[in-house]
Amino acid sequence: MSTIEFLDLGKQPITNNFLTQQKPIEEFFYNLKIMFNEETKLVSLVDFVPPEKMFNETYAHRASMSLTMRQAYKELASKIKDRFNPKSILEIGSNDGVFLKNFLDINPIGVEPCKNLAEITNATNIKTYSNFWNISLGKKIYNDVGKFEFIYSANTISHIQNLDETFLAIDNILADRGVFVLEDPSLLEVLKNISYDQFYDEHAYVFSLTAINNLLKRTELEIFDLEKLTTHGGSNRVYIKKRSNPLNISKTVNLALAFEKDFGIGEFETYKKFAGCVEKSKTDLISIFERVKNKNSKIIGYGATYKSSTILNYCGLNNEFIEYFVDTTENKQGKFTPGTHIPIIKPDNFLRNDIDFVFLGAWNFKKEIFSKEKKYIDNGGKFITHIPFPQII
Ligand code: TYD
Repeated sequence: MSTIEFLDLGKQPITNNFLTQQKPIEEFFYNLKIMFNEETKLVSLVDFVPPEKMFNETYAHRASMSLTMRQAYKELASKIKDRFNPKSILEIGSNDGVFLKNFLDINPIGVEPCKNLAEITNATNIKTYSNFWNISLGKKIYNDVGKFEFIYSANTISHIQNLDETFLAIDNILADRGVFVLEDPSLLEVLKNISYDQFYDEHAYVFSLTAINNLLKRTELEIFDLEKLTTHGGSNRVYIKKRSNPLNISKTVNLALAFEKDFGIGEFETYKKFAGCVEKSKTDLISIFERVKNKNSKIIGYGATYKSSTILNYCGLNNEFIEYFVDTTENKQGKFTPGTHIPIIKPDNFLRNDIDFVFLGAWNFKKEIFSKEKKYIDNGGKFITHIPFPQII
């Protein structure tokens, strides 16, 4: 058998199913297990969750809610214009339009299955197809609009279960000299930071560059450039073109592939070791919480991220440990974390000093949060994080 399971993160709820009541009558759980494919080197969930259960009109994540992300998308847009100057652009997984709104002059097209988000962008002159990306949607968009010089997809391709169809549909609608940019969390960073919270229902895959490269070998597409990003705790921005497109292939691609090989990304042994580190991370995080809880400290959470759902449910950190989460995303506020039932509230401008410990759910925004909460930290406030190992800072 070419796939081997290496990690069992137990029963998990749908991460974006923020509850409207603390004690729900019914809550869906699935088994979160992770496996490695020895042939393609692809790391994926063992059991996929039906997409309709995750991506629907109640989808909570709003990409434009963070200053870091707004700035990152603006900078990327201007970089793309300078480097490729596309005359047409398609985004797969356009969320609330935070990226595409930088391209209003070339009539950007979005694809966003979550209806609540597609409504936002359709209202701002970004034509958005509220459907799942697949061959037939690609054909429909081709018939309506034609081919695209630039296709962008951030934190979406790793969510789509049928990868072969996904890449084929992109190949079909990409202009011959077009560029497709895919951006997703990097498996290498997950392995380095023991950020096992990148595994949750939506992330059907966590990609290494190696796996993407192997998957593209089955298509007419190939990688020609790569950037390492700090977003989402460490991501790869992968530049892809048709093989027939004579653009140069940057040296960084082979260097990064060689680095991953040396790291052991293609070896099952690496994943076995990682699983051991995950178990230790769990034990150590629980013991920190038990220690501080025994002192009757006030503990809250910062950023009710999807990622943190995996941590909270795997480590059994429920509302007995964490009094509440603060989160700036409006449609999470007034609700409860899935599985662990911790209330989520709108943050005050700054953290109050009667809070002893703050669990950093949004650890990927550590820099932004620490600079915003400087006063809390200067006054002796403490954060608990599990990245890269459980600690109080
Ligand atoms: P996100 O980075 O999208 O992670 P995930 O994909 O795992 O959900 O979520 C970040 C969350 O943190 C989002 O709900 C907004 C919240 N947040 C705050 O509440 N305050 C902040 O200062 C920042 C930066 C984020």
